[in-house]
Amino acid sequence: MKHILALDQGTTSSRAIVFSADGRVVSRSGREITQLYPQPGWVEHDADEILSTQLQTAREALSGVIGEVSAIGITNQRETTLIWDRSTGKPVHNAIVWQDRRTAAHCDDLKARGLEAAWRAKTGLLIDPYFSATKLAWLLNSVPDLKARAAAGELCFGTVDSWLIWNLTGGAVHATDITNASRTLLFNIYTREWDEDILQTLGIPPAILPEVKASSAHYGFAASLGGLPIAGVAGDQHAALFGQACLQAGMAKNTYGTGCFMLLNTGKEAVSSAAGLLTTPAWSLPERSELGFTKIQTTQLGETVTYALEGSVFMAGAVVQWLRDEMKFFTDAREVEAMAASVPDNAGVYLVPAFAGLGAPHWDAYARGTIVGLTRGTGRAHIARAALEAIAYQVRDVLEAMQRDSGVTLAALRVDGGASLNDLLMQFQADILGVPVERPVITETTALGAAYLAGLQTGVFDLETIATSWKLERRFEPRMDASTRDRLYAGWQRATERAKGWLEAE
Ligand SMILES: Nc1ncnc2c1ncn2[C@@H]1O[C@H](COP(=O)(O)OP(=O)(O)OP(=O)(O)O)[C@@H](O)[C@H]1O
Ligand SMILES: [Mg+2]
Repeated sequence: MKHILALDQGTTSSRAIVFSADGRVVSRSGREITQLYPQPGWVEHDADEILSTQLQTAREALSGVIGEVSAIGITNQRETTLIWDRSTGKPVHNAIVWQDRRTAAHCDDLKARGLEAAWRAKTGLLIDPYFSATKLAWLLNSVPDLKARAAAGELCFGTVDSWLIWNLTGGAVHATDITNASRTLLFNIYTREWDEDILQTLGIPPAILPEVKASSAHYGFAASLGGLPIAGVAGDQHAALFGQACLQAGMAKNTYGTGCFMLLNTGKEAVSSAAGLLTTPAWSLPERSELGFTKIQTTQLGETVTYALEGSVFMAGAVVQWLRDEMKFFTDAREVEAMAASVPDNAGVYLVPAFAGLGAPHWDAYARGTIVGLTRGTGRAHIARAALEAIAYQVRDVLEAMQRDSGVTLAALRVDGGASLNDLLMQFQADILGVPVERPVITETTALGAAYLAGLQTGVFDLETIATSWKLERRFEPRMDASTRDRLYAGWQRATERAKGWLEAE
């Protein structure tokens, strides 16, 4: 009874992994989910498909081992916004995905009203379509009757974690955790409450909001999965920071999934950014002693919140998917490495993947993707290489901002996520940062972090075990000379300027 089931509901797939008490993968299952693009810049998911794929994969992973499993941890794509009917449980609309830009004009308006500084001081975020708030407002204002029904308490808002918790518990629990709440732009990360002023400005009735709990807490029982307790919940990037055992202030990880997300643990201090990064709770845990874990079953958001600085890059591995699905360069994302390696360098070609605008540190909702430096000799291999290099350049943009904001100089960067398995990309990353890159044995750290959070609550894991179970698989040392590094990065910066402000505001 010591295994933990982690549900990892990502942007591109639903995954379920059973971990043993020593952090090994016992069983796993995954399914891709459909991406819906109803208009340019809009991205949606079918809420029922999110649920059905997650349940299917959970049942597959549990098959044959359910008797050994003691609890469930949930981690999820963040900011993605859902509303469902409290009595029927039916979603009123597709989920609006974090990448969706439909609320750019609304955000411009809020910024023009001078609200950004005050909202930032409460939420740690910027005003950008990325976050849930304006997506929720869009739904309430665009779908007939929703606003009145929300005010009457007939509807539930949730990010994907809440949607899963609600359904797993048979509609008994409407809750979220502090990390997911902090990505809505509606939550004050200092007082740890929903913010009345922001709610009022956006016309969002408080009755629609979920209860906010600690990341490691008892959420309820999953009736649809053998009655197992849900004991840990965190947004995917926060879970990955925990799964990478970045438990001390000054430790950072970077996840290469659909996007790239670098988080730096800043300890009990919430560091505000002057360089375009976000301030965010990393997690909140039950009360504990310094080293060990004392089992207090509290769900209070007490003095146990750890904070992080975050750099969010919207497009990373998704560029490789785009080369695969839209450009038909190859049929499997892994083939990008051989294609890129078939040329010695980018031959001056840069690809800026601003498909959903640019996130940190630029924050330009009107930027769009571009390829520059094309010549008659440019081939697919150069573009594939430019796509991989773009992932690494964006990470450098973020790391520089992070070092400026925090004063921390990283000794090494811990990496994870699907694209971190690409050796060429990881070597180029070390080269372009001038910082060693460390890849652990388990790169499914998002799921592992959710399992850790659930296992902490149920007494399967303690913090000491988590800290000592991180194992290095491979370290990439910087090998590029400084002048090449500077020349390449300067080219990237010029290319980025070409992509900015492309779309004309409505
Ligand atoms: N060898 C590779 N080289 C480069 N990119 C890769 C490689 N293998 C997978 N990817 C990319 O990594 C991404 C998948 O990574 P991962 O499974 O961590 O993402 P995910 O968890 O589904 O993302 P999210 O949680 O954002 O949905 C895809 O975008 C894919 O294109
Ligand atoms: Mg993921």
